[in-house]
Amino acid sequence: MGLLSGDTLGPLAVAVLIFLLLLDLMHRRSRWAPRYPPGPTPLLVLGNLLQVDFEDPRLSFNQLRRRFGNVFSLQQVWTPVVVLNGLAAVREALVYRSQDTSDRPPQAIYEHLGFGPRAEGVILARYGKAWREQRRFSLSTLRNFGLGKKSLEQWVTEEASCLCAAFADQAGHPFSPMELLNKAVSNVIASLTFGCRFEYKDPRIVKLLDVMEDGLKEEMKIVRQVVEAVPMLLRIPGLAAKLIRGQKVFMTLIDELITEQKMTRDPTQPPRHLTDAFLDEVKEAKGNPESSFNDENLRMVVADLFSAGMVTTSTTLAWALLLMILHPDVQRRVQQEIDEVIGKVRRPEMGDQALMPFTVAVVHEVQRFADIAPLGVPHMTSRDIEVQGFHIPKGTTLITNLSSVLKDETVWEKPFCFHPEHFLDAQGRFVKQEAFIPFSAGRRACLGEPLARMELFLFFTSLLQHFSFSVPAGQPRPSDHGVFAFLVTPPPYQLCAVPH
Ligand code: HEM
Repeated sequence: MGLLSGDTLGPLAVAVLIFLLLLDLMHRRSRWAPRYPPGPTPLLVLGNLLQVDFEDPRLSFNQLRRRFGNVFSLQQVWTPVVVLNGLAAVREALVYRSQDTSDRPPQAIYEHLGFGPRAEGVILARYGKAWREQRRFSLSTLRNFGLGKKSLEQWVTEEASCLCAAFADQAGHPFSPMELLNKAVSNVIASLTFGCRFEYKDPRIVKLLDVMEDGLKEEMKIVRQVVEAVPMLLRIPGLAAKLIRGQKVFMTLIDELITEQKMTRDPTQPPRHLTDAFLDEVKEAKGNPESSFNDENLRMVVADLFSAGMVTTSTTLAWALLLMILHPDVQRRVQQEIDEVIGKVRRPEMGDQALMPFTVAVVHEVQRFADIAPLGVPHMTSRDIEVQGFHIPKGTTLITNLSSVLKDETVWEKPFCFHPEHFLDAQGRFVKQEAFIPFSAGRRACLGEPLARMELFLFFTSLLQHFSFSVPAGQPRPSDHGVFAFLVTPPPYQLCAVPH
């Protein structure tokens, strides 16, 4: 106690301050490099943490972009960050410099969920052999989903019928579609990973969705940013467990589902689904310490596919239905095209897209307007690079502001309006747009894009084939302003689904 007497406290405080100053200066060295991107002045230790609104970083980034330009820098405590805005900068970094921008920043907290050198999954895997192996495996499993008896398209089509039946059960009464959409989309990932679907009332799917929602909320907390920037804090006993409680329960559920599949597996039969195919690879890789196929990584890969593939797709579908009730003229035109090409009886198929340019344009415009993953997933430079003439050192976190491309005022005629004509030419033919990058671009672009496109088209057309959607009588017209909740979700709303 004597050590902390009044006489020693003053010099000790000065020493701590000098130490922090030196540490801070050391971490800021990169800012003084020539041609380092400009940015707001960071505070001691905290950096620019207080200058970014983590409840909706899009707003802060737009303000900073106006002040500093398309490539600006931030300091998150001691982590150097560069934010890329606009098509030219995002494309230059992600596509032309893909080799050097495809790493992910380490996220120490996930070690508490089982993330480690031999179990990196896909989304957060460092750019290297293990990521390449798992990305290739997931892509080829998605592509050759003839694993089980049914094709992936059949699974999605059958799930769409279950979803339509659940909408019909609402008997025209107002309801919020989010929960049913979440369940339908989870079932598609469950079919891919476990070859099964859950009844919508099954307590396991209800729990899975609940803990997933908790997990998303955990990601939004500012304290998460702080512990990532100062991983030492995770040594505080109990802190990590508290910060990712929901995600831990989620991993336990995934473990249970994998165990079930292991118990029912017949190794003499061909793989039934992704989990079986992975276990075959584990067997083949026995004794190879270099391989990323092991039991610990199986749970990470499956968890990644669930977390990346579920809420993204269901949130987009929730936007699609909201935009249909807000734009009944567009809804009618889609239904007219469905009547002409598919009719009322046959189930929609992916092949129908070729004859349905308006519907395809509407689905694209929903994704552009909804802009659900506005900042993508952070990347990290693995070498010093140049983007738009700025120098970005190795080890810098890159935030790709996909929103600034999807809403770029120099590209889109009406960037802030829902306007399917963005994807149609004067003859009503569908036109691709380079600035349409909701799945990001380059080597780390979304690997689930083909599946997501399939789900969006088949669920959307199946629902519109059977129902007319409207704002419930007597209820105010919902707004089309998204709420930033890790992803950008539509504002809570209800609709009426009247069979036709
Ligand atoms: C509308 C739906 C979806 C959207 C908007 C979307 C968007 C994205 C974005 C923006 C990224 C980050 C790319 C980057 O780092 O630059 C990403 C990554 C990823 N997505 Fe999707 N996604 C969707 C659906 C899916 C589905 C259905 C799956 C899986 C079945 C999936 C699996 C993944 C995976 C595994 C990654 C990480 C890729 C890697 O790091 O190599 N996504 N997605």
